[in-house]
Amino acid sequence: MKLFSLFLLIFVLLFSTKTLAQTLAQPPAPAGPTNITKILEKAGQFTTLIRLMKTTQVADQINTALNNSNQGLTVFAPTDNAFSSLKAGILNSLSDQEKVSLLQFHILPNFLTMSQFQTVSNPLRTQAGDSVDGEFPLNVTTSGNQVNVSSGVNDATVANTIYTDNQLAVYEVDKVLLPLKIFASPAPASAPSPSPSSPNLKKKTPVADSPVAGVDASAATGKDVLAMHGILQMVAFGVAMVATLRL
Ligand SMILES: *[C@@H]1O[C@H](CO)[C@@H](O)[C@H](O)[C@H]1NC(C)=O
Ligand SMILES: *[C@@H]1O[C@H](CO)[C@@H](O)[C@H](O)[C@H]1NC(C)=O
Ligand SMILES: *[C@@H]1O[C@H](CO)[C@@H](O)[C@H](O)[C@H]1NC(C)=O
Ligand SMILES: *[C@@H]1O[C@H](CO)[C@@H](O)[C@H](O)[C@H]1NC(C)=O
Repeated sequence: MKLFSLFLLIFVLLFSTKTLAQTLAQPPAPAGPTNITKILEKAGQFTTLIRLMKTTQVADQINTALNNSNQGLTVFAPTDNAFSSLKAGILNSLSDQEKVSLLQFHILPNFLTMSQFQTVSNPLRTQAGDSVDGEFPLNVTTSGNQVNVSSGVNDATVANTIYTDNQLAVYEVDKVLLPLKIFASPAPASAPSPSPSSPNLKKKTPVADSPVAGVDASAATGKDVLAMHGILQMVAFGVAMVATLRL
């Protein structure tokens, strides 16, 4: 039994070293900065949000901010259903800057757990800027574990925690939060819809989408393989510990 355990331990050590070496040898796989796109892809049902984050480069902003900030970030992520329940044409009627602001309005410049929402003071400041009335105020109301957010134009319910570490929290919301600054006027959907920016975007989006999606899929697979290696190593280590203790 002892001999067997010893062999097992040696085998495990060799195995771990090998996979570790392989991991280090793979160039495009830094253990890593947090990647919001990847998190949302894994969660599913956020394709519209991902596309908007890419075209506005807000995804890059988030990743960079996470890398440079020690306060972290909180992201409210509207689902595809949330986007499709918007009035038709509403997104296309926005300028590029307004799209950026709309997304930034869904980001808080600090990490908040679900329970911390109970103690925040309204209105919250978002990455979109000023939180005074008429600009970009965001209010939170809680009751027990339930958290709602209100923009002054509409309300959303926080449905799920998609991701959380001690730096980034991503919460699913059932509505796209419409900031007062952009949507305060009574009939936003009737704004001149054939604005110069919308045809461009309609053309660009599908073209840009498919190749990027291809790259994404392969990148995710590579990371998954690495994650499996990590798990295998941990399992192997656990087995080795048990074996050692039994000696
Ligand atoms: C993260 O920050 C480090 C150090 O500040 C920097 O070297 C690195 O390039 C940054 N990575 C990204 C993805 O921004
Ligand atoms: C949140 O919104 C839902 C749906 O509008 C409502 O039923 C619920 O009472 C609200 N909860 C809080 C804490 O505001
Ligand atoms: C948000 O909360 C502040 C402070 O309680 C309040 O003055 C403001 O009217 C609220 N706005 C909305 C849209 O609920
Ligand atoms: C983040 O993940 C996406 C999708 O998996 C990938 O396309 C992108 O290159 C990643 N970004 C960084 C900075 O690693």
